[in-house]
Amino acid sequence: MSIPAIDDDVFDAASVLNARAVDDRLRELSPVVWLSRENIAVLGRWEHVSEGLRDWESFSNTSRPWHDPNSVRPEILLTDDPPKHTPVRAILQTALSPRALKVMDEHFQAIAKEQVAALMAREGEVIDAVADISAPFVHKVLPDVIGMPDKGREQMSAFGHAVWATMGPMNDLFAEAMEGAEPLLEWAAWACSREQINPDSLGMQMYLAADRGEISEVEAHLLVMTILSAGADTTVITMANLIRAFCEFPDQWQALRAEPKLLRNAFDEALRWDSPSRLAGRIAMKDIEIDGITIPEGTRCGLLFAAANRDPRKWTDPEAFDIKRDLRGHVGWGYGIHSCVGRTLAQLEADALFNALIEKVDRFEAAGEPEWWMTTIGHGPAKLPIRFHAASR
Ligand code: HEM
Repeated sequence: MSIPAIDDDVFDAASVLNARAVDDRLRELSPVVWLSRENIAVLGRWEHVSEGLRDWESFSNTSRPWHDPNSVRPEILLTDDPPKHTPVRAILQTALSPRALKVMDEHFQAIAKEQVAALMAREGEVIDAVADISAPFVHKVLPDVIGMPDKGREQMSAFGHAVWATMGPMNDLFAEAMEGAEPLLEWAAWACSREQINPDSLGMQMYLAADRGEISEVEAHLLVMTILSAGADTTVITMANLIRAFCEFPDQWQALRAEPKLLRNAFDEALRWDSPSRLAGRIAMKDIEIDGITIPEGTRCGLLFAAANRDPRKWTDPEAFDIKRDLRGHVGWGYGIHSCVGRTLAQLEADALFNALIEKVDRFEAAGEPEWWMTTIGHGPAKLPIRFHAASR
């Protein structure tokens, strides 16, 4: 059977504002849907998305929907298959060894305590959980561990917006995001260069790998840029989504305060409940059969992470946020050889920030409607008005 096609624009501004419902509808229409405006096939059911992420030989990373080899986005690691992918990934994995992570963790905890203590002065005020909680934390600790200079860090959000835009179609939202992006990209390239990177840092580990001849100097620079691009907004958004979930499900914050060891599961549940990336791009390396539908070799495909994480075939009551849920198999970190290499780093950041909040905050409440990231693939709150009430203990 050929792929059922639709002509809807699922990446225009209206669809981006309503991305959850749009992606869930795609998942329910058919196991595979052809987006005729984009010339891509999308898969939204958990079973097929997780299998597609695992089977990198059939669903390759070497080309993707809207793939532009001249994109400003770093082309390394996520855009490679084995054998090229394997040694490059190993460099990052080694640099993120338990010993290195322990040093980073101490820094995360110190900054989290300092920022949360300062936040307490704003109890009861309407604040923005993104601009006042998750972004200042991630935008401080991530460039610190990468070893970037302080200059220009205030551009982190704007830079992230431009990077997200490069992952989707070149529509009006792309054009808007790219307006004025050049200086941001120049700043990131400068701040990630060997000359600017702190000698004792995660970023410098990439350049030392170049010195050992494991990668080229250009690849080392690309890897540092990749850490910056992949690690910032994903973490900012997931932390903000966790706070959003605690506003909508206040009993879950109380459950977490009663049992802080559930924090890792809570963070993963936030990733499942509303994933910061709508899709993973891949290309079919052969004809692939899914439930009687053939995806022809050479088809560019989107594996819909977020829709799969809410697939009712897999998840009971998927819209509910439950920090005790059995989350085995969720694809919020991806799956298989390309699954998130920065996962422990992000989890340690979340541990530090939320453990500090658990100690000081009795409850969060929504104080207005969120504003959303207006990028086609990146999804989540760009502004999240909330209030919090301090804990008496
Ligand atoms: C909550 C925060 C994060 C989320 C939700 C997240 C999510 C993901 C996902 C879904 C993938 C797989 C993409 C695919 O298969 O197409 C991925 C890959 C990746 N992530 Fe993360 N990520 C996060 C934080 C980080 C951090 C802090 C870093 C910094 C080191 C990072 C670096 C990477 C890299 C380099 C890859 C590509 C891995 C490969 O291709 O082998 N991520 N991430």
